[in-house]
Amino acid sequence: MIYICKNNRKLLSLLMTLLILVMTGCGSADKSTEKVKEEDKKGIVIGLSIDSLVVERWQRDCDVFAATVQEYDKDASVNIQNANGDAETQREQIRYLIDKRVDVLVIVCIDSEGLSDLVEEAHNAGIPVIAYDRLIRNSDVDLYISFDNERVGELMGEELVRSGLEKGNVMMLAGPEEDNNVSLVNSGFEKVMKDNNVNIKSKYYTPNWKAEEAANYLNDHLTELDDVDAIMCGNDNIATTIIRTLSEARLAGKIKITGQDADLEACQRVVEGTQVMTVYKPVEKLAQVAADYAIQLAEGKELKDVNVTINDGSFDVPYYYIEPIAVTKDNIDETIIESGFHVRDEVYMNVLD
Ligand code: BGC
Repeated sequence: MIYICKNNRKLLSLLMTLLILVMTGCGSADKSTEKVKEEDKKGIVIGLSIDSLVVERWQRDCDVFAATVQEYDKDASVNIQNANGDAETQREQIRYLIDKRVDVLVIVCIDSEGLSDLVEEAHNAGIPVIAYDRLIRNSDVDLYISFDNERVGELMGEELVRSGLEKGNVMMLAGPEEDNNVSLVNSGFEKVMKDNNVNIKSKYYTPNWKAEEAANYLNDHLTELDDVDAIMCGNDNIATTIIRTLSEARLAGKIKITGQDADLEACQRVVEGTQVMTVYKPVEKLAQVAADYAIQLAEGKELKDVNVTINDGSFDVPYYYIEPIAVTKDNIDETIIESGFHVRDEVYMNVLD
C-alpha cells in the first residue's frame, strides 16, 4: 500500500512536473507572442531632441507637438530629450535616439554646423530627420520646418525705422553664431538698416542664447549708448535682461528695444511702451505641421505640400515655412490676443484703465 502510495505520489509529482513544464513552455511561448504584440502595438515613436526649455516658447512647441502626434495617432509616442543648452549632450541624446531606432528624429539643433555626421548615421539606420525651427547645415535633412527668419529681422528693422532713429546708430545683441537662424535674422535686419542709412555701431553674438552674457557685454559698453538710438535684441528673453540692465544703469526708456517670440513679458512691455515691438511666430502651427510631417515620414509617405527648397550649404532640402508677424501696441489685440497666444488680462496686467 505504502509502496503504491509512494508510487502514486511519484506519479503525481511526475505529472505535476510535466504539467508545469508544459505550462512554462506554453507560458514562454505566450510571453514571446505577447512581446511581439506589444511591440506591434507600441506604434510610431518620434524622437524629439531640443536645445533647452529656458526660453518661454519651447515648452509650448513641445506640448503642442506631443499633443498633435497623439491626436493624429493615439498609438504614437514622443521621446523628448532636452540637452539643456549643451551641444555635446545633444549629440549623446541624438545617438541614444538613433540606437533606440526611433521612427523619425525631430531636432532643434544647438550647433547648426555640428550634426551632419549624426544625421548621416540616422539616415544609415533608416531614420528620417526633420530640422525643427533651425536648419542643420550640410546634412540633407528630410525636411526643414521654420519661420521666414530673414523676415523676422526685417520686421525688427522696419519697426525701429518707423519709430524714428534720430542718431542713426543701433547696437545688436544677437543670438549665437552657431544658430543658423541668427545669421538669417541679422541679414534681414542689417539690410533694412543699410537701406535706411542706419549705422550698426556694434554687434555681439550672445553665446548659447544666455541673456546674462548679453547683459555683461552691455555693462562693459555702456558709454557706447550715448549715441545709440536702439538695441536690437536677438529675442525677448535677451530683451528682458537688457531692459533690466538699462534701468540699473538709469537708462530706462532712453533706448528703443526690439525682440522676437512674443513672450508674455515682452507683450506686456509693448503695451506699456517700454519695448517697441516683438515678433509673433505662431509656434502652435509650426508644431502641429511638424507633427503631421513627422508621422508622414515615419509611415514612409511622400511629404504633402512642401514645394520649396532651401540650400543647406551642400544640398537643397525641402523647406516649409510660416510667415512671422510684427507686434506693436497698435495690432497686439488682433495678433496676440485674438489668436489666443496670450490672454488679454495678462497682457494688459500692468496697464491701468
Ligand atoms: C529661435 C528663437 C528663440 C531662440 C532661443 C532661435 O533659434 O528662432 O525663437 O528665441 O532660438 O531659443
